[in-house]
Amino acid sequence: MRRLSRRAVLHTKGTDVSQPQSVIIPLPNPAALYQVLRVGNRAANGRAVARIAAGLPALTAEVGAIDPGAELVSAVGIGAELWDAISPNKRPRLLRPFKAISAGGRSAPATGGDLFFHIVSRRGDLNFELAMRLRRQLGAMVEVMDEVHGFAYLDSRDLTGFIDGTENPHNAEDRSAAALIGREDPSFAGGSYVLTQRYVHDLDKWRALSDREQESIIGRRKADSEELAEDVKPPTAHIARVVIVENGEELQIVRNSAPYGTTSEMGLFFAAYCKTPEIPERMLSRMIGASGDGLHDRLMEFTCAVTGASFFVPSLDTLRELG
Ligand code: HEM
Repeated sequence: MRRLSRRAVLHTKGTDVSQPQSVIIPLPNPAALYQVLRVGNRAANGRAVARIAAGLPALTAEVGAIDPGAELVSAVGIGAELWDAISPNKRPRLLRPFKAISAGGRSAPATGGDLFFHIVSRRGDLNFELAMRLRRQLGAMVEVMDEVHGFAYLDSRDLTGFIDGTENPHNAEDRSAAALIGREDPSFAGGSYVLTQRYVHDLDKWRALSDREQESIIGRRKADSEELAEDVKPPTAHIARVVIVENGEELQIVRNSAPYGTTSEMGLFFAAYCKTPEIPERMLSRMIGASGDGLHDRLMEFTCAVTGASFFVPSLDTLRELG
């Protein structure tokens, strides 16, 4: 996969912005580790946790030096309640906890979380090493709510067998424009919001469908991800529900998800970075069938979100200040 420089100074809408954390802009490598943590007694532990979080870029460089070819990158996201415990007077404009969405028996639950660690490289063992060092530092101040070790499946497919990422922004400029806060919240420029959800697939139910039926649920061909023609693609197809056009432009997010699981329970850990939490939430609301047009995403009949949370991922400068 083409790699993107993560050192170049990024420009958003003509302004220099702080550097984002290193996971956001490069195209993802095959091994991913996601961790959602709760901080016990935020008022007492918040500052110490913030110092450890602020040390993540240095710790990533230290572990990454074991094998620079593995291209270890990371990010830490901070939930609204933890943010308010550590920096109540200076907060990102749109930071608030993710609210559950439900309709017609389908749901996107809100399970919360104070910290989100996202680690990616070519080597699962280096991801694990970094996560272990963090965990040792955090000790009894945190409780792990969810930990998922993701992998690239075949040629970048979701476990449904469909290529995932075809329409994801691919170059640094487009990824920055979609993911990074710019002038709209200048104190937090270079930061991002991330929505995380762990999905569990019902693959027995999915495999009972023909390829043709699966394709009409995704809206793309299974073999090569070619989009179905408008007159064939149902309005309930996944890509029909998540494409939202406003003022002639498609709303964009940067998906950085990965398949995960065991042979008993498997699915997708979904992570979407965006300069506003509202865009992925609007997509999700159209998927669940809560957007008021009477339609839902048929993919939701074959997979179920079991977690959901929203975090702010500060720029490197803001992260340093927090520490
Ligand atoms: C289990 C959950 C999900 C699965 C298996 C899944 C799978 C896919 C697949 C196979 C594609 C087509 C290829 C591509 O362009 O990447 C796609 C596209 C997309 N998905 Fe999902 N997705 C899931 C959840 C979500 C969620 C929760 C959102 C938003 C909140 C989302 C947003 C998008 C977007 C924006 C596109 C690109 C649409 C386009 O421009 O054509 N997906 N997804």
